[in-house]
Amino acid sequence: MTARIIDGKAFAETLRGRVAQEVTRLKDGLGVTPGLAVVLVGDDPASHVYVRNKHKATVEAGMQSFEHRLAEDTTEQELMGLIDQLNADPEVHGILVQLPLPDHLDSDLVINAIDPSKDVDGFHISNVGLLGTGQKSMVPCTPLGCLLMLRDVHDSLSGLNAVVIGRSNIVGKPMAQLLLGESCTVTIAHSRTKDLAEVVRGADIVVAAVGRPKMVPGDWIKPGATVIDVGINRIDAPEKGLREDGTVKTRLVGDVDFDSCAEVAGAITPVPGGVGPMTIACLLANTVTACCRANG
Ligand code: GUN
Repeated sequence: MTARIIDGKAFAETLRGRVAQEVTRLKDGLGVTPGLAVVLVGDDPASHVYVRNKHKATVEAGMQSFEHRLAEDTTEQELMGLIDQLNADPEVHGILVQLPLPDHLDSDLVINAIDPSKDVDGFHISNVGLLGTGQKSMVPCTPLGCLLMLRDVHDSLSGLNAVVIGRSNIVGKPMAQLLLGESCTVTIAHSRTKDLAEVVRGADIVVAAVGRPKMVPGDWIKPGATVIDVGINRIDAPEKGLREDGTVKTRLVGDVDFDSCAEVAGAITPVPGGVGPMTIACLLANTVTACCRANG
């Protein structure tokens, strides 16, 4: 079998188009422009790239983008002061604090200071609790993007065996909650899981979110299963040659071994071009949702 490749980029473009239409409707109908504030503390190069991409996508959707880049040595008091200011700003409908924060800042404290109705990441403890009890909440962007793709592949997810590999607060746990909400039978596997291969072999749906390059081989996959790869890992790619400075070029790979898994799976997301583009599109969608809820 050769799997259907789930085109996350095309999915994301469609979703971003719908978001842009909704933004136009809000501007024309209510005179309100959805606004997203992104807070970045410190110099983490990957975070700078993510924040730049979020800004670009926000502006392209016709929304307001408020970027706050703070120095590495920003104090908790300064950061909390900014969050208070953004919470009170009627032009800001969504607030995202880019993680990870520098070690001296307590990310739980900072995230829980965000007004839950503006918490477009869905990380605030109120939103976590609402999702866990099946109530209306802000849903974390990466799991939401995965769910939208899964719903497209399957007419119904009800009763399917889903294995989520990874138990992070950002992806693994909320993904499991969403799948449970779809009436899947959900297993959360992690680094201490015994005989992971056997656990994964029982899955109709595999969501891999561990951050270990090519960790899931094709012979773990049940024939016809759907594989969603959340991993974004940079590895050396000597086959691409050397850079001018003599260092080896790199490439992105996921948490699953794409080639061997694609031979067995029914459908699979590629890396890049799978889950990644959907995450940003869902962030924009959550911001529009927050704006709609704030304006009745
Ligand atoms: N860092 C890596 N992923 C995320 C995310 O989804 N949200 C935030 N705020 N920070 C991140």
